[in-house]
Amino acid sequence: MKMKKLLVLGLSAVMAAAMLTGCGGSDKKEEKSLTVTEGTLTMATNAYFPPYEYYEESDEIVGIDVEIAQAVADKLGLELKIEDMEFDSIITAVQTGKADMGLAGMTVTEERKQSVNFSDTYATGIQSVIVKEDSAIKSLDDLQGKKIGVQLSTTGDIYASAEPEDGGFGKDNVEQFQKGADAVNTLVAGKIDAVIIDNQPAISFVKSNEGLIILDTEYVQEEYAACISKDNEELLTKVNEALAELKEDGTIQSILDKYIVAE
Ligand code: ARG
Repeated sequence: MKMKKLLVLGLSAVMAAAMLTGCGGSDKKEEKSLTVTEGTLTMATNAYFPPYEYYEESDEIVGIDVEIAQAVADKLGLELKIEDMEFDSIITAVQTGKADMGLAGMTVTEERKQSVNFSDTYATGIQSVIVKEDSAIKSLDDLQGKKIGVQLSTTGDIYASAEPEDGGFGKDNVEQFQKGADAVNTLVAGKIDAVIIDNQPAISFVKSNEGLIILDTEYVQEEYAACISKDNEELLTKVNEALAELKEDGTIQSILDKYIVAE
């Protein structure tokens, strides 16, 4: 009796090993099923983007996106797990199944839509220009030929790096940073002339650094949404349903109001 059981166990172990090694051709699929953990909603973000996501003193990530993701996870009966990474890794993480969704104050763009699906939008933003208080730069026109700091691969980067005839300032005038805060520190140090970044982080950076102001100019309005793998239509539907309920019952608005104080 015992022997038989052992044999069965032994056999299935061999079979499992054969299956693992035999699946060389479908690496991608295998990776996906291994990384998406049952019962968990893994959110990819870049936690240097207050008030959407940032570290609070300790090593806890807080912010609008965290609370919205938590509310969505609660609705779906999943446990929320946050993966902090570079902003330009988020879409890849979602595509490869390293994360179930990206929530990072991410703007819906046509180009990103080629790679991922976007949920319904839950917030909006505009790009703002931060300069030093005593700067000679007073308008967007004054920015031509100046050194502009941006966070790598963000919409601010995309707009600023475009050629002047397309409304930008040209790649050569743009310095890319991994974190928005690094761009701001470089501005404070006087090594660049301006930073282009979303309005809410801009307000937060200007508050936490002396001698900075936001120029009174606006870019087009952007829509923030969660990005989800094109292979996971089911999650997209569920997230949209959850977001709709959270909008309906006022949860999203109260989260926004908690972090965004009217000026
Ligand atoms: N809204 C901008 C974009 O989508 C910037 C987002 C940056 N987010 C972040 N968590 N660092 O490109």
